[in-house]
Amino acid sequence: MSQPPVTHQEFTRAFRDTLGMFATGIAVVTTRAANGEAIGLTVNSFNSVSLDPPLIVWSLARHLQSLPVFEACEYYAVNVLSEDQQHLSQLFATRSDEKFAGLDIDEGLYGVPLLRGCCARFECRNTVRHEGGDHLLFLSEVVRFDREDHPPLIFHSGAYRRLARD
Ligand SMILES: Cc1cc2nc3c(=O)[nH]c(=O)nc-3n(C[C@H](O)[C@H](O)[C@H](O)COP(=O)(O)O)c2cc1C
Repeated sequence: MSQPPVTHQEFTRAFRDTLGMFATGIAVVTTRAANGEAIGLTVNSFNSVSLDPPLIVWSLARHLQSLPVFEACEYYAVNVLSEDQQHLSQLFATRSDEKFAGLDIDEGLYGVPLLRGCCARFECRNTVRHEGGDHLLFLSEVVRFDREDHPPLIFHSGAYRRLARD
């Protein structure tokens, strides 16, 4: 059966909504610019790739101002948010030069800022990048990681969710 014709806008909306059926965690990717400024943004494109070598992937929208910083940095961190860190997801998903103001952070390898209270943190070497349409894919080697026994924040169908308690 043929599909009714749709505009590009309708296609994009439907594609986005359908992708949103894939439930994910939420992470904040952090690094430092060459001038020492702490940089970070919320992502849900993070995923595991390989155990040996240890590789992860995430993608960054090409229009974002932080693109040149993430392209140039040697190391960055993926901070996987706990369910009580929804405010950090919102903070790091909003354009601002003050995202780290008043936040307690740990100092990671090579000075990369690490968020506290996360359920997992991965410190990564910025090795390989691939073109991915309107995004740039980062395929990176994990050099150090830690985790805490906090439940994760979940994102599904455009909304924040929590895991059901057993
Ligand atoms: C739940 C959620 C997931 C997101 N995932 C991504 C992502 O995977 N890649 C991306 O480039 N932006 C993603 N964003 C959008 C960025 O967080 C947002 O554009 C942010 O403002 C970027 O920071 P900047 O404006 O300071 O550069 C996501 C936002 C939300 C709320």
